[in-house]
Amino acid sequence: MQKIKLGMIGGGLGAFIGDAHRRASRICNDYQLIGGVFDVDFEKGQEFAKQQDLDLNRCYATVDSFIESELALSDVDRIQAVSIVTPNMLHYEFASKLLKAGFHVICEKPMTFTVEEALDLKNIVDSSNQTFALTHTYTGYPMVRQMKEIVKSGALGKIHRVDAQYYQGWVNSIIEGTGSGITGVWRLDPKYAGMSSCMGDIGVHAFNLIEYTTGLEISSVLSDLNPVKENVQLDLDGTVLLRMNDNIKGVIRSSQVAAGEENNLTIGIYGSEASLKWSQEDPNFLYMLSDTEPTKVYKPAHGYNTEFAEASHVMPSGHPEGIYEALGNIYKGVAKSIRGEESFDGEFPTVEDGVRGMKFIKSVVESNSNNNSWIDL
Ligand SMILES: NC(=O)c1ccc[n+]([C@@H]2O[C@H](COP(=O)([O-])OP(=O)(O)OC[C@H]3O[C@@H](n4cnc5c(N)ncnc54)[C@H](O)[C@@H]3O)[C@@H](O)[C@H]2O)c1
Repeated sequence: MQKIKLGMIGGGLGAFIGDAHRRASRICNDYQLIGGVFDVDFEKGQEFAKQQDLDLNRCYATVDSFIESELALSDVDRIQAVSIVTPNMLHYEFASKLLKAGFHVICEKPMTFTVEEALDLKNIVDSSNQTFALTHTYTGYPMVRQMKEIVKSGALGKIHRVDAQYYQGWVNSIIEGTGSGITGVWRLDPKYAGMSSCMGDIGVHAFNLIEYTTGLEISSVLSDLNPVKENVQLDLDGTVLLRMNDNIKGVIRSSQVAAGEENNLTIGIYGSEASLKWSQEDPNFLYMLSDTEPTKVYKPAHGYNTEFAEASHVMPSGHPEGIYEALGNIYKGVAKSIRGEESFDGEFPTVEDGVRGMKFIKSVVESNSNNNSWIDL
């Protein structure tokens, strides 16, 4: 089968998530990276393109020149899908331009800077024929997909409570360290990150994981955020109480300053008959708890899993799979959508998930500055 021609905006030398996107696109084996705008600095972008052995004519200085030059090529040669892996403030501008020019878009989270931009992007996606995917990477893990399907089957009984946590500690070294000022790290700077650091960068993953796995909508939030230090402009830590439909309650706990924590994203979905617990640092084990039976452990690559979870592992059972494979599963879902193939419900997060995420971030910030009051999404 012909590979989908892939472009990338950002993700050049030393960039973090762009490399994971390239690896993911190779794991699923559906794409070939052709070109892009790999860096804000054109020379560094060209250096990267050389290292990747790409045609330098397909390495562009700006998104505008990318679009103009690619559109001048024949359908056969033109890049078809573009991954946007730049800091947050550029997602909306680049995604809307690329969609309007006819490219499929795979965009990093948080989707935009504001809810207004998110709604506008949704209109653009809805009126186009292209695929738009948002890379909430954790939805690609086989056991997260298994969790979604178990909840859908009703096996938990009535859901009583949902508890998600995303703890990191790396920002300690920036705010407490001597070597680097906080302005050098874009996640802490509202000009690059938007209205939130902790909730916008990682709390939103916990939010998405709750809505993805339970199928519930979080209707209102009450938050208590903490910038931790006086000279920090955005939240670095916070707790959010959640109200969902059907009188279900929950909580999101998130921190970038919990010393020693790495990418400790966990979720617990507690029901009247059974409960599910999953942790991204141990992603191949999904625990099902009950008051009357011993704990069950689900693992990838076993016939007892649902068809969707079974379609989401690469190796036979017992070989650990991780974040690259999870992102690869999202790229696989996008490839199926571009090719018009049949797919499972939830193979990649959509523009609706992006709108929900932006409403969450805005409401959490509003609740905190409004005396920690309840805010409807
Ligand atoms: N899904 C996830 O789990 C996950 C994980 C990490 C980061 N992210 C998201 O990915 C995005 C990028 O984060 P990162 O940590 O890789 O950032 P980064 O700072 O490591 O890399 C950003 C890249 O964007 C490039 N860039 C900046 N301005 C540009 C422009 N005008 N044109 C072209 N390229 C430009 C930079 O040169 C750099 O190559 C963020 O939105 C972040 O929230 C998501």
